Amino acid sequence: MCGIIGALSSRARVQGHLLDALQKMEYRGYDSAGICVADQGVLHCAKAAGKLAKLREKLAGSACDGSIGIGHTRWATHGAPNEVNAHPHISAHCAIVHNGIIENHAQLRRQLTSAGLSFASDTDTEVIPAMLSTLLDKCSYTGQAWHQMLQSLDGAYALAGLIDITPDTLWFARKGSPLLLARRGNDYFVASDALAVADLADEVMYLREGEWGCASHDGCQVFDAEGRMVACQWQEMPVAAGSTDKGVYRHYMEKEIHEQPAVLERILNAYIDDAAIHFPDAPWLSTDPLPERIVMVACGTSYHAALTARYWLERYLKVSVEVDVASEYRYRNPVIGERTMLITLSQSGETADTLEAMRLFKSTTPNNRALSICNVASASLPRESDGLIELLAGPEIGVASTKAYLAQLSVLALVALHMARRAGAMPQAELEEHIANLWHTVDGLAEMLTRTAAVSSVVPLFARAHGALFLGRGPCYPLALEGALKLKEISYLHAEGYAAGEMKHGPIALIDSNLPVIVIAPQQYQLDKVLSNLREVQARGARVILLTDLPEQEWPEDVDRIMAVPEGDYFTTPLLVCVPLQLLAYEVALAKGTDVDQPRNLAKSVTVE
Ligand code: F6R
Repeated sequence: MCGIIGALSSRARVQGHLLDALQKMEYRGYDSAGICVADQGVLHCAKAAGKLAKLREKLAGSACDGSIGIGHTRWATHGAPNEVNAHPHISAHCAIVHNGIIENHAQLRRQLTSAGLSFASDTDTEVIPAMLSTLLDKCSYTGQAWHQMLQSLDGAYALAGLIDITPDTLWFARKGSPLLLARRGNDYFVASDALAVADLADEVMYLREGEWGCASHDGCQVFDAEGRMVACQWQEMPVAAGSTDKGVYRHYMEKEIHEQPAVLERILNAYIDDAAIHFPDAPWLSTDPLPERIVMVACGTSYHAALTARYWLERYLKVSVEVDVASEYRYRNPVIGERTMLITLSQSGETADTLEAMRLFKSTTPNNRALSICNVASASLPRESDGLIELLAGPEIGVASTKAYLAQLSVLALVALHMARRAGAMPQAELEEHIANLWHTVDGLAEMLTRTAAVSSVVPLFARAHGALFLGRGPCYPLALEGALKLKEISYLHAEGYAAGEMKHGPIALIDSNLPVIVIAPQQYQLDKVLSNLREVQARGARVILLTDLPEQEWPEDVDRIMAVPEGDYFTTPLLVCVPLQLLAYEVALAKGTDVDQPRNLAKSVTVE
């Protein structure tokens, strides 16, 4: 949600670096972009509404010579996505890029307006350079003005700034939104995401809450919120698993769907040793007494993965498993209790609500463990948790999550199996059988990816559809939610996921011949009951798409389309089912001509609540 970059080079012009870094962070927001480069103390800004390509077009043939600059790709919170509201925002002496929300912006704007300043944009961000300019006039040195400016802000921010009176210094700060500092020799960078600077820097330092500082060719200084200098702790820049280009695929989403067999294989190789499951970055999962309660908190697709895992965990562990969306959990005064384990799930590890839910849990019950299941090991969520199971999916660029979801299901299946075995609720032989089935699922997923004709044959049913309904039961009920979410995100078609048994309590009223109903009916989860639900919607004229692992000779003859999946067990079935649901959403979106990788209004990393 907004990507920011700052670059200070000892040799090169930075304009190209800024644009390339923004390209890599465009998944964080793509409704406008801008850069500012300082050349001999003069700040040169360029901004454009729309995707980064528009800014590149605007800058074509007009490279600025400066070797220090900042850049921003925006997901609008305050103010329409137009050029005026695009960052950087400037004032008399400075230019600022910001990710986050300044909650007291209205009050600061009133204060600054009565002091004679005027504002051009509708953003919350513009108060930052305005406040900084007034403080630069009052303070005896620039660092003092920067610190006092930060102290005046309520809310969340990752900031990078240029100040004309310190023309060779890059300023930065972090509170509530992610920001890292990176370096190679005397070149320094700040960025929202390591991907943006992975090929420009060798070392990285993840700024902690409240930290701020500046970098120049003489080195960098970092301070805590109170202004005390902190030691820089550099680490080697992580080498991202997997490449970040599209390869032979038309879209990142298509590529990421096709990577799923490899993702599962990587997870099994990492966490299974012979017939035992182990989690090296959360060793206490094998030694602590088993929890009496498990709470799982996440958002969006990650939340759907948690909902499926609840079935797995409760069935074997016989402990209560509570699953909630993070934005609700953090504000509903949850009753937590001792011997409760928290599991947060997040692809990015920076989702603001999930992060705050975890902080609430830890501050309320410090003796309880918080486990993070996350795709970005260096992100805030794993860094603040007691243990991590890395998803190992590699960078996920498509805004609609696919391979990270499959990875979440896979890791959660391993967690459930591991805990079931520890609880004595699953004999070793049964554990080994499930592990063998997970290995077979690698091939099952690959096979699913070749069955594109069945998916393509379904697409015409969506040509005149006014929506779609996804039905499932048991661990596949959340798959219905996820199938609907994928479809609406990228095709803009309204879709609902429902527990099949709940359908006649309301949504059945929606059914007509222009409402395709996708019935998820694997043999594992109350097949007969799901097939009865299928008959109920069919009797009301619905066009039915059946997704099943029944052998062909048992397929019902009178459904409109069938998408076959290989037969799975209690744990592997959802992994197999998610692939055709993803392919379906992808194919429908292609037919509708929408922007698959960057659907309207969305951003991948939701760092504001
Ligand atoms: C949907 C999607 C979102 C994310 C959600 C949480 O395709 O990607 O619903 O799942 O924004 O993000 P993470 O997993 O990064 O916490």
